[in-house]
Amino acid sequence: MRELLGSETLGNFSDALDHALRQQASRLHAPDTRKSDKGLRRFTIREMADIAFRMNYNTLRHHLKTIDGLPEGVMEPGNRRTFSLEEIHEVQRALYDAGKLPIEMFPGKIDGEETTKLLIYNLKGGVSKTSTAVNLSQFLALRGFKVLLVDLDPQASCSDLFDIQADLDNIPSIYDVLRYDEQSGDEGRVPIADAIQATYFPNIDIIPGSISLTEFEYETASAAAKGIPFYSRISDALSLVEDAYDVVIFDTPPHMSFCVIAALYASNSMLIPLSAGMLDVVSLVKFLDLASSTLESIEGVDPDKRFDFVRILLTRYSPSDPAQLQLSSFLRNTLGNSMLNTDFLSSTAIADAGNTMNPLLEVDPSSFTRKTYDRILESLHGIAREIEREIMVGRGRLQTNEEAA
Ligand SMILES: Nc1ncnc2c1ncn2[C@@H]1O[C@H](COP(=O)(O)OP(=O)(O)OP(=O)(O)O)[C@@H](O)[C@H]1O
Ligand SMILES: [Mg+2]
Repeated sequence: MRELLGSETLGNFSDALDHALRQQASRLHAPDTRKSDKGLRRFTIREMADIAFRMNYNTLRHHLKTIDGLPEGVMEPGNRRTFSLEEIHEVQRALYDAGKLPIEMFPGKIDGEETTKLLIYNLKGGVSKTSTAVNLSQFLALRGFKVLLVDLDPQASCSDLFDIQADLDNIPSIYDVLRYDEQSGDEGRVPIADAIQATYFPNIDIIPGSISLTEFEYETASAAAKGIPFYSRISDALSLVEDAYDVVIFDTPPHMSFCVIAALYASNSMLIPLSAGMLDVVSLVKFLDLASSTLESIEGVDPDKRFDFVRILLTRYSPSDPAQLQLSSFLRNTLGNSMLNTDFLSSTAIADAGNTMNPLLEVDPSSFTRKTYDRILESLHGIAREIEREIMVGRGRLQTNEEAA
């Protein structure tokens, strides 16, 4: 007769894997191999011109030669000058001071402009939510935006990609900020500022996720029974620190939860990644229905609740696949401007990140063919440019496309 399997079996699997992962993590993250120790790679003048400043390469070279006191970078073998991201931002500040960059591109908030709080939202699993959150924050950070990532997924992949593991490192996670301690006089709850971790990537801080986020769900249910509201749980905490950031990005789990609803309440913009398959589109219909009724209930609490922008991003897209090409034009015909113009292409450079833990800006471009690297770079850069444009429209520095027409 077959042995009956139950909780003990799953518990044993978990123990064995947990043990092995901890061993592997301590090898992977031995002191000299942690990303925070290794730091971020350096960037070329070409990358600085194209991505960070969006300025003509020769113009930038000219400024680097003629403006006094700019960092000089380091001359690498092959006569290539490279700069750290901190140096790039120093050059950028000097160029703004000298009037060489247009003010509508200045990433920092000016005079009471609002922080963009962007929810990456789709309840379907594996549609590139985390890949979008991580790569978008890195492109924005490279441009000079100060970004706070909030990892609301108990699986915490986004935190893993930044080499920050609340559970392993014994540091507070977003759960410790959100947990209910009203009865015990707030003891145990962690002030949000104490849960923010700097990452090895300049301009990106993160509040890590952790498996304990699942407890927030149980606790919310019993707190709600006592009349303690949960909608404003994230926005109340965030209001204490958001002024220090230009953009807050929420990475969400692939399931409906109180935590996701609280993030919806806290956000003022939304990006919905949709992977390029017919079944994904069918489930998007159901998701949008559910999201719409969730928002309706939020509007019941806060009738003024509005989003600056809601855009859909086609992900894992292969234009060489005729079925996907057809799907893309079907979506654009149906949804028009709600779709971002740039698609998140399917790419081995992104799939690899899951194994090597390196988002695109961290990989050595020479580890892929030039064409592979340039295609995905242009895709992610295009997405970041469009989101940046939305941010600037939200700040009132640019007109919407409709206004401009
Ligand atoms: N554009 C892409 N090209 C190739 N692989 C991709 C792409 N985007 C994501 N992937 C891979 O697909 C997997 C799922 O992606 P990701 O974790 O970003 O999705 P997710 O929506 O956050 O998933 P979950 O719902 O589990 O949180 C990962 O292994 C990732 O490396
Ligand atoms: Mg994810």
